[in-house]
Amino acid sequence: MINTNLLPKIEDGKFTTKAITYTNYNTPWKLETLELPIASADSIVKPNEILIKTSAVALNPADIALRELTPNLPVLGGKKLKVAGLDFSGVVVQIGSKFLVNSESTPLKVGDKVFGGIFRPFDLYSSFSEYIVLNEKAFTVLEKVPESISIQEAAGITVVTNTAYQCYLGMQGKLQGGNVLVLGAGSGVGYMAIQWAKLFGAKNIVVTASPRSSQPALKVGATYWIDYTKGDKNEVKELKDFVKSSGKFDIIVDAVRDMSFHSYLDEILKPKTEGGKLSVVAGTFSRSHTPHYLKMLPTLRFIRTYGRFLAGYSHFNVDLIAAHYNKQFGPDFQKLVKAGLYDLKVDSILDFYTQYQEAYDKIYSDKNVGKVILNLENSGVNDH
Ligand SMILES: NC(=O)c1ccc[n+]([C@@H]2O[C@H](COP(=O)([O-])OP(=O)(O)OC[C@H]3O[C@@H](n4cnc5c(N)ncnc54)[C@H](OP(=O)(O)O)[C@@H]3O)[C@@H](O)[C@H]2O)c1
Repeated sequence: MINTNLLPKIEDGKFTTKAITYTNYNTPWKLETLELPIASADSIVKPNEILIKTSAVALNPADIALRELTPNLPVLGGKKLKVAGLDFSGVVVQIGSKFLVNSESTPLKVGDKVFGGIFRPFDLYSSFSEYIVLNEKAFTVLEKVPESISIQEAAGITVVTNTAYQCYLGMQGKLQGGNVLVLGAGSGVGYMAIQWAKLFGAKNIVVTASPRSSQPALKVGATYWIDYTKGDKNEVKELKDFVKSSGKFDIIVDAVRDMSFHSYLDEILKPKTEGGKLSVVAGTFSRSHTPHYLKMLPTLRFIRTYGRFLAGYSHFNVDLIAAHYNKQFGPDFQKLVKAGLYDLKVDSILDFYTQYQEAYDKIYSDKNVGKVILNLENSGVNDH
């Protein structure tokens, strides 16, 4: 199966693809033309691989962290050229005969518009490239783009939506009429966590956010907003007041590693005997300052909370969330869209070939409100 119109240029057993690359924290992102080997004389892909022509990609804080935190040391791969990126959308160009993702529920075919995520840090096969050729194990998500979503916006779905989804694993059927707390509703992950909570039937969805992010959060389903910029003391007081009037939380989704409430968990979260769960998104760091290894490490408070859980002494279920493949994500995402609950905040759609550094700077300096997307399909630039 192959779409010849969208095939890359092939010469001497190699195909070319323009990609955004870096080597280590000392080298900025750079647009380069790469030559990658094809599988055989009549196929770019191996039997378990897929070839996608990329339409758009989206940035995540992880893209910044991966570059900023790669040392200039050969033993740690610091001299090797890498392609950046996790999120993408595009069109399927070729599928190997043994490619398996989605084969049961929604088999993919050549010409399908797809979105997804890749987690292949430190190599040449990541998403910020005109062509993606990978085997099924490399994708955290690979799904068809719903008709109501543009191919550009679809590029921004995966990392935030899938990470938020994973926070609720094991809780889907248990949140009807329940209480959910989302810490960091202004983050992409937190914003999507509100929408999943609504789909899963939560009655009260309490969020922390700054004033700039409060209105969007309330619009997509938050029922009570706490302004975290007023400080930890105020946040804890408001949480305790909420619990007094409406009961403890069934789940706390922490997208921003907010430690202010950890000493009060017993007072605000249901015990595990009643299903209480704390989901903390891994990898969080403050982006308004230079990313640093120490900011990626868990705090002592979190180590205490998680350590107690691992040792079997915790009163709650605790989960450290890192996005990975889950076959239920696709069908549940379709439900979210069909229910009219899905909304992605898009900050800007910029040109892949000329504006990638501007996109990087936006994320690095925390100036974006929503996803920053890089469009590969035409050079029309659109700032929202
Ligand atoms: N492990 C994984 O698989 C995974 C996947 C995705 C993301 N992550 C991590 O999760 C974090 C969120 O990612 P993202 O893409 O969703 O980030 P993002 O959209 O860039 O979120 C940043 C926003 O979080 C809000 N925020 C920051 N500190 C806060 C606090 N103390 N309390 C409440 N809100 C606060 C701010 O919004 P307002 O000030 O406007 O409210 C800020 O603009 C990142 O640090 C990322 O590294 C991990």
